Amino acid sequence: MSARKLAVVILAAGHGTRMKSSRPKVMHEVAGQAMLQHVINGVKSLDPVRVVVLVGPGYDDVRALAERNGCDVVVQEERLGTGHAAKIGLSVLGDLTVESADADIMVAIGDTPLIRPETYAELYRIRSEAASPALGFLCFRPQDPAKYGRVKLDEAGQAVGIVEFADASEEERRIDLCNGGIVLCDAPKLRVLLDNLSNDNAQGEYYLTDIMADAYQRGWGTAVAVTTEEQVMGVNSRLELSRAEAIMQDRLREEAMLSGVTLIDPSSTWLSADTEWGQDIVVEPGVWIGSGVSIADGARIRTHSHLEGASVGPDAVVGPYARLRPGAELGSGVKVGNFVEVKNAQLDEGAKVNHLSYVGDASVGAKANIGAGTITCNYDGFFKYRTEIGAGAFIGSNSALVAPVSIGEGAIVGAGSTVTKSVADNDLAVVRGKLINSADGASRFRAIREDRKNAEKK
Ligand code: UD1
Ligand code: CA
Repeated sequence: MSARKLAVVILAAGHGTRMKSSRPKVMHEVAGQAMLQHVINGVKSLDPVRVVVLVGPGYDDVRALAERNGCDVVVQEERLGTGHAAKIGLSVLGDLTVESADADIMVAIGDTPLIRPETYAELYRIRSEAASPALGFLCFRPQDPAKYGRVKLDEAGQAVGIVEFADASEEERRIDLCNGGIVLCDAPKLRVLLDNLSNDNAQGEYYLTDIMADAYQRGWGTAVAVTTEEQVMGVNSRLELSRAEAIMQDRLREEAMLSGVTLIDPSSTWLSADTEWGQDIVVEPGVWIGSGVSIADGARIRTHSHLEGASVGPDAVVGPYARLRPGAELGSGVKVGNFVEVKNAQLDEGAKVNHLSYVGDASVGAKANIGAGTITCNYDGFFKYRTEIGAGAFIGSNSALVAPVSIGEGAIVGAGSTVTKSVADNDLAVVRGKLINSADGASRFRAIREDRKNAEKK
């Protein structure tokens, strides 16, 4: 890549009216990540010196996301169009847009989550070639050009301008080359082009796309990079969101399988964009892997398990029907079986929680065995408390461990105990009512009841 500097402006201030949502469009998620996050990840692969995100007024969560990613945030108070938004973005990049600056600016949009890093790089390459054109647009030929802007070429195939759908004539609407919305331009020239925009068009907006014709007429050189519809499709409605999700899921499944993960039924396995995989993992059908999950070599995730914010150690087995919530950390060879929920809990090597348990705000030592139906009672309605279970401890079935409490290493808790005081290493604790056994009592009970029933019948 060239030594020129690159800054990116991401437009994310639009209302997104067609989403019919109280949330800004770019916060809607694809594969567990906000659309804007996908775009930020994509453009960051170009190593820009700055990334500026345009947000609408009051878009606090968009601002927070951008800031978390080290981006600068600029508010576009009035949404006057993509050209207006780009211009405001440039206003904080003053030093890069002075006439002598050796810099480029890419304007990306927040509602195209499917563009791959390679494709941003391909557009960027346009500016690093010798005799490079000043301006490039990322374009595509969709099956149905719908309402995308149409890109016009001259006889030599050079891009001469873009006409928005709302302004296009019947003939122009028949053009199949469409604008994907991503622009790359020499920075000082972009400033000149944006200063020159007008809003004299069907929508009364400042169109970013109008810079194409202006640049062409100035003889500054224009070019298009053509990519696939699958990458550049814009998400404007929930319907398009679901299409983007499906495309992204297919990609993630493919990547996981190519990296050594067996997905027995890829189509029923739901993945997140940030899942970290080891090798030789098997994922059974119907598994949901939410964001923030890492799974180490040799683990098996059995059918209908739901994971989120969890790490699964090597050779661990999860499920069927297990739920790992944020902060679940399973060590090597740990077993978490059916109808078990684990939250904010560390399970060391070889620990087993095989059936019907809740383990929350807890630590479980190596090789401890937690019996069926054990509950860590971590919450009193106001505060949360921790349960510590030592290595090699054995918790009998149907025990309630009332936190804060600790069970020592090698200790045993008898089945059915409600434990409210800590148990020391190697102690045996049983908390139960006394068993009262009345010899032949059941026979006497039945005889009495039968006599009464017969008396009532008469
Ligand atoms: C835009 C392009 C169109 C292209 C399409 C590709 C223009 C004028 N049109 O149309 O040629 O085919 O994208 O998907 O550029 N935004 C702001 N501030 C504004 C207006 C928009 O930040 O004042 C942001 C939106 O949040 C969005 C992006 O710009 O992320 C694109 O806006 P949108 O209204 O979706 O443009 P399209 O009509 O889809
Ligand atoms: Ca759009």
